[in-house]
Amino acid sequence: MDDTSQNELLAPDQARDENWRHTREAYENNPRLLLRNTLQAFDGSIKTFYDKALKYVPLKANILEIGSGDGCGADYLEALGYTVLRTDPIRNFVRFQKSRGKKTHQFDVLTQVLAQRFDLVLAPAVFHHFDDEDFEDAAKHVFDMLPSYGIFSLCGYSGVGARFKRYGNKQRYFCYRTPEMLSDSLKRSGFIVEETYLLDGTWANCIASKP
Ligand SMILES: C[S@@+](CC[C@H](N)C(=O)[O-])C[C@H]1O[C@@H](n2cnc3c(N)ncnc32)[C@H](O)[C@@H]1O
Repeated sequence: MDDTSQNELLAPDQARDENWRHTREAYENNPRLLLRNTLQAFDGSIKTFYDKALKYVPLKANILEIGSGDGCGADYLEALGYTVLRTDPIRNFVRFQKSRGKKTHQFDVLTQVLAQRFDLVLAPAVFHHFDDEDFEDAAKHVFDMLPSYGIFSLCGYSGVGARFKRYGNKQRYFCYRTPEMLSDSLKRSGFIVEETYLLDGTWANCIASKP
């Protein structure tokens, strides 16, 4: 997860696909900012995010990671012996992972559903880029990629409200949610909430299952 202690701007009331357009442009134009931030030590709250989710699935679990970014999380899973499908909608992140010899799919959870089913779907620091309507769409897509009893684990910046935050020469959209807000949203999308927790006072986490 990257550090975003950069300039914050109040999000103007824009069409929802504008939020994603800004965020996509920010990542495509400034891939090095994310790569520089997350290629540092893999520990703390990001490691806890993976460790807690893994308690719900066996080692042979089929895992999908949404928004893999630089692939540090997937590297960690593979080092533990898990099989993970790495995905990201940003071409520069996909290219970066491929340049490291990692098979990575270009995948946008707002518009796509994979035919495959996964025991565990992970979305680390991804859904905070979605407003409520996008969150609902993406959660439905995740729901459709899980079998019964499949697990979905996500995290994002905790808080309330929405902001655009400067990222290099562009801006990313963020919608803050507390653990309770994540829980309520996933319940509305048909999930059973297994666990919610706050890490470092910053990261809202929620683990849910498909009935
Ligand atoms: C803050 S970065 C987190 C990257 C990585 N998961 C981590 O924790 O370091 C947000 C990630 O979400 C991805 N993302 C944003 N919108 C997405 C979407 N609609 N579908 C899938 N991934 C998305 C971005 O491309 C980016 O890799």
